[in-house]
Amino acid sequence: MTPSNTPLRLSVTTAHDDKSISLQTPTSGSTLTPPVTPIAKELSDAERSIPSPVEEKALEQTTVQVKRNISTPLRFTDEVEICRDDEDRPVEFGRGAWSIVYKARSTLNNTTTPLHTPPSSPVTVSRVVAVKAPLRRDARKVLQAEALTLTRLNLTPGFEKHVVPFQGFLSDSDALVMSAVPLALSTYIEDHADLRKKQHSTATTFDPVQGPESWRDMARKLITGLAWLHDTAGIIHGDIKPHNVLLRRISTDEPGVDAGAFPYEPLLADFSSAFNIPTDTTLTTPDTNQASMSAFTPPFTAPELLSLASLKSGDVAPTPSSDVFSLAATLIAAATGDLLLYPGSNNMQRLAMAREGHRILEFTRAGSNGCRVPRNGFVEKLVQPAVSKDPAQRILTRDWMALASL
Ligand SMILES: Nc1ncnc2c1ncn2[C@@H]1O[C@H](COP(=O)(O)OP(=O)(O)OP(=O)(O)O)[C@@H](O)[C@H]1O
Ligand SMILES: [Mg+2]
Repeated sequence: MTPSNTPLRLSVTTAHDDKSISLQTPTSGSTLTPPVTPIAKELSDAERSIPSPVEEKALEQTTVQVKRNISTPLRFTDEVEICRDDEDRPVEFGRGAWSIVYKARSTLNNTTTPLHTPPSSPVTVSRVVAVKAPLRRDARKVLQAEALTLTRLNLTPGFEKHVVPFQGFLSDSDALVMSAVPLALSTYIEDHADLRKKQHSTATTFDPVQGPESWRDMARKLITGLAWLHDTAGIIHGDIKPHNVLLRRISTDEPGVDAGAFPYEPLLADFSSAFNIPTDTTLTTPDTNQASMSAFTPPFTAPELLSLASLKSGDVAPTPSSDVFSLAATLIAAATGDLLLYPGSNNMQRLAMAREGHRILEFTRAGSNGCRVPRNGFVEKLVQPAVSKDPAQRILTRDWMALASL
């Protein structure tokens, strides 16, 4: 794990149970719990009428509110088995500070037969999934909270395009089952940076490592995803960085799709630091009464969350504008190919620069790949309004979307 991928955990809600990690599915599992039905009804009702903008806002708020009333995560009820390599070691897709994500296989015993066909023997359907399991006991509560967030997100219209598909929670082991999306944006960035180094071409020195069109298309998709997360789902991610964005391949052969387009759908993953945006607009801070863990990954973290006072008190919470900053930093890393953002500096120097995060473009330009973010170029124009020192001055996601579409 690279230092940039090492989050600084500030507040942890601990669970003191003593279960070991076993990945057996519950024998009598349930699928979606009762509150789901009213939501499905509410959405179809909403679709039937055409609400006015005021009604639309109210409807959006009720949908968010109803989803928040869901208090049990979707449970995973099929068989699941961790894949093993030739030496019988479990195969990992990745790991973070608190969890391991395994490659696994889920098996569904399908005994249903189509009408008018004689009954046949049960068909076994098997597919590859990703299982995120706690690495330590105090991560269990956090994964339980993440399962709830993912359940709510996966009930929010439009989720397919923006978040990693959640398949359910294994309550015996406090593990999450997700569709496998084995490419992280961090790996994509590293691969393109390596490719550029090998090419030694000066023609592309002033462009993002993946190429200008692809970067712009990717930026537009990422910003649209963040706007969806904040405005439609009512959630703050809290730890946006290239390692927490997964890439699902899409076809660029279709008519109307530019050949230089970014050939992936970027999906937000790792909701272990997520918060609900308060629906009560009189509250200025997020609902901290939830088992979430604050993860800070300098230098992707907004500077206001890294001040000494905030770090000492430990009660800092991310906000929509701190997510905006983190996504801007992610876009800069993608442009330069430097996952550490400030390569050549040590952890302490990086933390010091991250505290001065509003100067991120200046610091980037002083680095070895700074030429990829030229002054007044399209990268700077898109990123600058998202990194203002004062969080209140940072661009709102909906305005950012418009800027990215120009
Ligand atoms: N659905 C998935 N399919 C394939 N790989 C995944 C999936 N989800 C996560 N991964 C991989 O596992 C890594 C760790 O997952 P995740 O970020 O959710 O864990 P974490 O412990 O919360 O991490 P962090 O230390 O960033 O808080 C990811 O960076 C990614 O490479
Ligand atoms: Mg992560």
